[in-house]
Amino acid sequence: NNKFFVGGNWKCNGTKDSITKLVSDLNNAKLEADVDVVVSPPFVYIDQVKNLLTDRIEISAQNSWVGKGGAFTGEISVEQLKDIGCKWVILGHSERRHVIGEDDQFIGKKAAYALSESVGVIACIGEKLEEREAGKTFDVCFKQLKAFADAVPSWENIVVAYEPVWAIGTGKVATPLQAQEVHAAVRDWLKTNVSADVASATRIIYGGSVNGGNCAELAKQEDIDGFLVGGASLKGPEFATIVNSVT
Ligand code: 13P
Repeated sequence: NNKFFVGGNWKCNGTKDSITKLVSDLNNAKLEADVDVVVSPPFVYIDQVKNLLTDRIEISAQNSWVGKGGAFTGEISVEQLKDIGCKWVILGHSERRHVIGEDDQFIGKKAAYALSESVGVIACIGEKLEEREAGKTFDVCFKQLKAFADAVPSWENIVVAYEPVWAIGTGKVATPLQAQEVHAAVRDWLKTNVSADVASATRIIYGGSVNGGNCAELAKQEDIDGFLVGGASLKGPEFATIVNSVT
């Protein structure tokens, strides 16, 4: 079994005050030892979080610039993220794909650049509702996965997050079987298209309306190696429950 990995994606939420409270709740939470725990604050609060949060929890950014920093107004470089203590970056999140308009190639380049700077990548994939209803779930996920695979030289520092778009922020969590089916297919795709070693060693985590009540059943599934949590990660005790759902 792969080491469980639970990430909290805070998205564009929080204030200095609310984040101080959240960090203090996380510092006081009892977390199972055998789980990698990562939180992803908005850029502007990363330094605050880094200074207050226990070293038990690592920090991720929610995005990064595609190459070396310089004259790119409004962007944040991987070098800068490393400088303030980020070990990870979330790339290909559905909100960046479908709200901001990032495409597969751009996301793949970002992943390759982050890895080249030794920053780990939480690589997000997932289908929209109409794609699922049209029977295209695997096609969509494999196409997004292939763009990562084509761009990166190694999978050592990548966690794949399967986040069906219809489950994100909707309260409509995928059933354990729906999630397991896609996770198994993703692992199989990695086996065929990358290698058997990468397929078995890569953590495949689920995201989309995960909460303290539904995490335990999902965590039991063979190919679910953790979670990427949005809304419920803004509540320290509930996030701890999700971390501790490791089986
Ligand atoms: P919710 O947990 O709020 O559905 O968000 C999931 C997500 O997008 C995590 O990256």
